[in-house]
Amino acid sequence: MSKQENEREPPYLYPDYVGTRLRAPAKPLVHLPEGFHDFPAPLFPRTIAELDHDLTRQHAGEPIGERIIVTGRVLDSDGRPLRNTIVEVWQANAAGRYLDQDDQHPAPLDPNFSGAGRCLTDDEGRYRFITIKPGAYPWKNHRNAWRPAHIHFSLFGSQFRSRLVTQMYFPGDPLMPRDPILQSIPDQAGRDRLVSRFDPETCCAVAPRRPSRTRRERAADTVADGGSLLRSRIAVREG
Ligand SMILES: [Fe+2]
Repeated sequence: MSKQENEREPPYLYPDYVGTRLRAPAKPLVHLPEGFHDFPAPLFPRTIAELDHDLTRQHAGEPIGERIIVTGRVLDSDGRPLRNTIVEVWQANAAGRYLDQDDQHPAPLDPNFSGAGRCLTDDEGRYRFITIKPGAYPWKNHRNAWRPAHIHFSLFGSQFRSRLVTQMYFPGDPLMPRDPILQSIPDQAGRDRLVSRFDPETCCAVAPRRPSRTRRERAADTVADGGSLLRSRIAVREG
């Protein structure tokens, strides 16, 4: 990663994000030999169940919440679509509660919502999930701290080291300016890329903004050298 690209990444230590005070490396990073991580990804079978992309149909009943479609494209650092690559998402339910033993805040679980899905991209690098809009939830970062509504994403490129883990936010959320995780991204353009965009053509949508088409801007989205890019574009609520 170039020095310029590195300066656009969130720093390891961002004191307002309290967890980084403990997690940030205290010593210089050890650079592993070239090729150390260059084994093909993923190592798991590339077979996805038919309904893995539909988080609203994984149980006997339908989940509570605003139903949305989240779709976009995965491109490499040269702007070419990444085909047949796995995209995974996880999120809280409409009340802001995760199906996770560590999440014990007093919001209800939804027996019809697990909050995890995955799919493979098509020939144009597109992915598509049907889900419900997640709720905001409290965390213990600072007094009365609440995370804005968000969906977690993980995707692999052609190699394990090109894995990208990121979050998608929803436009107009008043909690975003107070979220140290989002605010740890140094520049406004970088933060804007994580905010989904409403799609009026398909009615009632949300999705991350399409970034600049320049190679420099695309490269700024990579997680690792030559890594993959996430182009979330639309999230649409079905009528
Ligand atoms: Fe989260």
